[in-house]
Amino acid sequence: MAKASQPCFIVGNWKMYKTIEQATEFIEKIIPLAANSSNTVMIAAPYTAIAPLAKKTEGTKVVIGAQNMNDASEGAFTGEVAAVMLQEAGAQFVILGHSERRLYFHESDEFINKKIKRALICNLRPILCIGETFEEHQQEQAKAKVKEQLEKCLAELDKSACQQLMVSYEPRWAIGTGLAATPKIVQEMTSYCRELLAEMFGEKEAKKVALLYGGSVNPDNAETFLQVPGVNGLLIGAASLDPDSFAKIIEIPQNVQKQVV
Ligand code: PGA
Repeated sequence: MAKASQPCFIVGNWKMYKTIEQATEFIEKIIPLAANSSNTVMIAAPYTAIAPLAKKTEGTKVVIGAQNMNDASEGAFTGEVAAVMLQEAGAQFVILGHSERRLYFHESDEFINKKIKRALICNLRPILCIGETFEEHQQEQAKAKVKEQLEKCLAELDKSACQQLMVSYEPRWAIGTGLAATPKIVQEMTSYCRELLAEMFGEKEAKKVALLYGGSVNPDNAETFLQVPGVNGLLIGAASLDPDSFAKIIEIPQNVQKQVV
């Protein structure tokens, strides 16, 4: 029996780059390419660009989301943004727990857990980022680290959340360094994550969680990562900023014919 082809998520994380004008120019180039792609193309835009991009991509195959949010429904939290505001602006997903948030803004697993719960209430699809530091990698602590992060960040979630949840394995040493993980590491770590998810939510539900890899993905190595069994997509920083390099990545899996594992 032929296996069903698996949806593949190509997520661009623009970080603190692109004005509304630059974002609009980019998206106009990507919309027609996404229309012909078998992948789900997602852009995590800066807050200011979310509403204009969501409007521009209405009825297209490009999905717009955010890079962070606060866990509270509303309140006196100067400078913060609530999930309901993102939703109103047209965001459909949100990256949570990115290593830059953990490193520069001291976000804890407990805080990220609250944000994930809030995102789910507001129908925003959470992309939880997890991954070890270089020291932890050297000391063979990577698995212990992602176990701790997954258990704390996903604590008290109902198994029905698996349908919405996306988890991106992003070793901190591979982010923005040009030093991507190897396919072997990605396979080992993502299948370990799947095992942990199965322990937490049951095997059937764990299969519904989309597992991504992120960290120095570029047009030259993207295909190799997409071919790793059990990997459902990529989270791309630097290479998502240039429409030509991003285009090369969203076009790849049309030929890869990845199968459900
Ligand atoms: P990078 O960023 O592709 O520039 O390494 C990845 C990320 O931040 O998720």
